[in-house]
Amino acid sequence: MRPLLEVQGIEKRFGTVTAVDGVSLDVAENEFFALLGASGSGKTTLLRMLAGFEDPSGGRVLLDGADITKVPPNHRPVNLMFQSYALFPHMTVRANISYGLEMERLPKAEIARRVDEMLGVIQLEGLAHRKPDQLSGGQKQRVALARALVKRPRLLLLDEPLGALDKKLRSAMQLELKRLQHEVGITFIVVTHDQEEALVMADRIAILKDGKLLQCGTPREVYERPIDRYAADFIGVMNFFEGYPQDGALQVKGATFTSTDPMPQGAAAGAVAAVRPERIRLGRGENTLAGTVRAMAYHGLDLQLHVDTAAGPVTLRLTADVAEAQPLHPGDPVTLGWSARDTRLFPA
Ligand SMILES: Nc1ncnc2c1ncn2[C@@H]1O[C@H](COP(=O)(O)OP(=O)(O)O)[C@@H](O)[C@H]1O
Ligand SMILES: [Mg+2]
Repeated sequence: MRPLLEVQGIEKRFGTVTAVDGVSLDVAENEFFALLGASGSGKTTLLRMLAGFEDPSGGRVLLDGADITKVPPNHRPVNLMFQSYALFPHMTVRANISYGLEMERLPKAEIARRVDEMLGVIQLEGLAHRKPDQLSGGQKQRVALARALVKRPRLLLLDEPLGALDKKLRSAMQLELKRLQHEVGITFIVVTHDQEEALVMADRIAILKDGKLLQCGTPREVYERPIDRYAADFIGVMNFFEGYPQDGALQVKGATFTSTDPMPQGAAAGAVAAVRPERIRLGRGENTLAGTVRAMAYHGLDLQLHVDTAAGPVTLRLTADVAEAQPLHPGDPVTLGWSARDTRLFPA
């Protein structure tokens, strides 16, 4: 099946700055797609080109197979929700949501029906007559979403939509956004710099670095199979051990690690073994490292253990039951183990 959106080698230069550098990606109909990258990696510029607010310096954008690269924003079936909600302060919730449909001069009865439907979707039926300053941050967020969704775009673009919310509300809204997207059946592209948010919400994640597409895949793929050291470090927590290849294994300070990954090209000049904290156990494994407990951090569900080893500091996560069965204290000697299967190898 043809993807809804095809981005082909899109590029944007501002003078000497290349903000987006030859990005190609496809987004399927009904997909929840996340653009993830550090500040300045080109996320907003890419989104603005998809919305038509920025002219690409090169490349093409296809929607349903039709080239829309030169189509002005108001003629694209695409809606961009800005980082600031930009609600009309003097209008009620209902008037804010219906405004776009009134501009389209739709029949009054249809407008009323569609606005009622959206008020139901965002679960704010009771607050339709309030003004924005009588709403909480999360409620304003939902009204802004409703205003974008009521026009039934083929594609909704959201730039850091949850950026203004506090941590707890943010987690709740992540699930809410996913539910909403499912319910309305509209394709979402969401920009975020928060890797955890991307993992929780998205069907697929594209990682941008310096305007280039570094990796694109499902949350599981980018988390379990990061393409390089940068991607491994950017998403989640990762332990790295630098060393040199010897007889197909990686020789690091004080240990030798095996991996199911092939030894990377150019590894003779140095390579890096990487393992996630939750893959490390107490006790020996195919890869084993001895160390001393430096510190412990309690996280409720699990315990984060920081261990000093000859190969460098290591972080691991113990579930509450394991931590309780074997109480540890700073200074205690420990043996850490993990499997070759959970060991990634990258060029240094
Ligand atoms: N209008 C502009 N003029 C000049 N440089 C810009 C403009 N917009 C963005 N940039 C530059 O392009 C790069 C990418 O910016 P942006 O797309 O906003 O990144 P992100 O949203 O990932 O933080 C940055 O180096 C930024 O300074
Ligand atoms: Mg931005």
